[in-house]
Amino acid sequence: MGNKSTERRGACQHYYLLRPVPSDSLPVMDLLEDPDPALDPKDRDLNETELRARLGAHFDAHFMAVSAPGAADTDASRLRPPGPMPRDIRTLDFELPGWKKPSKKMRRRLQLWLWSYTFCPVVYAWQDLGSRFWPRYVKVGSCASKRSCSVPEGMVCSPAKSAHLTLLRWYCIPRKAGGLRCLWIPVQYPVISECKCACST
Ligand SMILES: *[C@@H]1O[C@H](CO)[C@@H](O)[C@H](O)[C@H]1NC(C)=O
Repeated sequence: MGNKSTERRGACQHYYLLRPVPSDSLPVMDLLEDPDPALDPKDRDLNETELRARLGAHFDAHFMAVSAPGAADTDASRLRPPGPMPRDIRTLDFELPGWKKPSKKMRRRLQLWLWSYTFCPVVYAWQDLGSRFWPRYVKVGSCASKRSCSVPEGMVCSPAKSAHLTLLRWYCIPRKAGGLRCLWIPVQYPVISECKCACST
């Protein structure tokens, strides 16, 4: 573990009890696009058979679509987090000074509630990247950060891991003789693949 995470953990000491793993926020790609339509691919540049062949095995039908996809999927509306309950929650006994010790049933209930409350799912949504990407529709993940995910409050769901989709990007460069030369080149497009409850920066 590097210095950076040690520092961040120090600054976040107050919340360390429930969620010990801080995560780095990921940079989100920001594109500056020249709006000139001359730089857009034309119909002849959008032959699906050819572009599909160019992408080859990188074409991932689960995360990419050539035409506007229908309704978003329901991955995010899960009631209970997947996998086993994390140890730091499973071992909490919720005993507070001056309070009656909670029953086993109540303890289990509180643990389940806390687990759902602190769990940070990746929420997926289709995004239209515009005609200069192929496929132009990608399913990108985000972390639900509207409410705090820690007790006491203060931490929010933040990106913890990213993956890359390989897409084609329409690129134009000026020719020496004048005019433009445009072509599709493969690019790596970063998407959030895991969220964690972390200190806000
Ligand atoms: C797309 O490209 C393929 C292979 O090069 C070709 O056979 C086909 O006619 C093209 N389709 C269109 C609509 O141009």
